[in-house]
Amino acid sequence: MQDRFGRTIDYIRISVTDRCNLRCLYCMPEEGIELCQCEDVLRYEEFVRLCRIFAKLGTKKIKITGGEALVRKDAVNLIRAIKGIEGIEQVTLTTNGILLGDYIEELADIGIDGINISIDSLDKEEFKKLTRVGNVDKVKESLAKALTYPDLKIKINCVPCDGDNQNLLDVAALAKDNPVHVRFIEMMPIGEGKQFKFLDEDSIKAMIEEKYGRLTPFDAKLGNGPSHYFSLQGFQGKIGFISAISHKFCHECNRIRLTCTGYLKTCLQYDIGTDLKELIRHGASDAMLEEAIVRAVQAKPMEHSFLQKNIACEEQGKMSAIGG
Ligand code: GTP
Ligand code: 5AD
Ligand code: SF4
Repeated sequence: MQDRFGRTIDYIRISVTDRCNLRCLYCMPEEGIELCQCEDVLRYEEFVRLCRIFAKLGTKKIKITGGEALVRKDAVNLIRAIKGIEGIEQVTLTTNGILLGDYIEELADIGIDGINISIDSLDKEEFKKLTRVGNVDKVKESLAKALTYPDLKIKINCVPCDGDNQNLLDVAALAKDNPVHVRFIEMMPIGEGKQFKFLDEDSIKAMIEEKYGRLTPFDAKLGNGPSHYFSLQGFQGKIGFISAISHKFCHECNRIRLTCTGYLKTCLQYDIGTDLKELIRHGASDAMLEEAIVRAVQAKPMEHSFLQKNIACEEQGKMSAIGG
């Protein structure tokens, strides 16, 4: 599919649940969020049907997200089914890592094409503070288990939000000691994220270069998302940056999103798209769904306006329900 700005849309991020077993400060309020009603969440067969239609329309890459995708009981089966759809070349997962150790064997067996693990700090106290309830040891165990599968492509996501308490250089060192890429993500002002200041790419780069030496631009793409990468001497993995604010990447956007309630969302920042669940549950044919998807993609916004106040159609939902 092409949008009206000539961008090829061949990547969809699917949030399979809005539930999560953590409560990250920048993502969920302490008391949690009002969760979607079970009957509103797309069933396995509905997701698979939509994925077949997306594949027919030219989608090649699918990211499974949450909430935390692995709290959904049939997540691994869903990934297996989506992997089997003709035209889908890559299915990847973004997870907080808490339950990953329990599922890694199955995921590796299925041939998952990549796993991103969020680790905002390796320090036990700090991780607990940032996630309110999380135990970083569980995530470290999952990572260690995942690393026993040498063909798995693993990346680490880290969102700076608490000054140097997170010890970002320790997180960066995961790419020195292991064959994983570590990406630093600028905080985006969505939901709870609005309360935080973002730490910009250049500041993080300066900290890394001071300790580990010169970051050399690495030109190849490593995945389907907006990260750009740098090499560091002595590091097995690359250091990446997802800098939606200081290095806006909307002009090369290749993606749309599907929420767990079947809303097709065409840009992270806006509540713009189309309700595919309504159509499915009112008996729409595949052709009708295709038409609705193509129409929504045509209306995909050109870019985000994160630094602007009071913008029309701004997303009011929480990041946990969007899946990042
Ligand atoms: P891969 O590198 O292929 O694994 O994809 P990815 O980086 O898109 O995956 P991941 O789920 O790990 O997302 C990392 C971060 O990128 C999250 O914070 C997302 O919110 C952010 N991100 C992904 N796509 C977009 C986008 O279209 N716009 C913005 N602003 N942020 C995005
Ligand atoms: N800004 C940037 N990244 C965010 N994530 C969650 N909320 C935000 C935000 N406001 C990240 C998570 C996870 C990924 C899916 O999105 O840390 O790594
Ligand atoms: Fe859960 Fe991810 Fe949100 Fe943290 S950022 S509360 S792990 S959905």
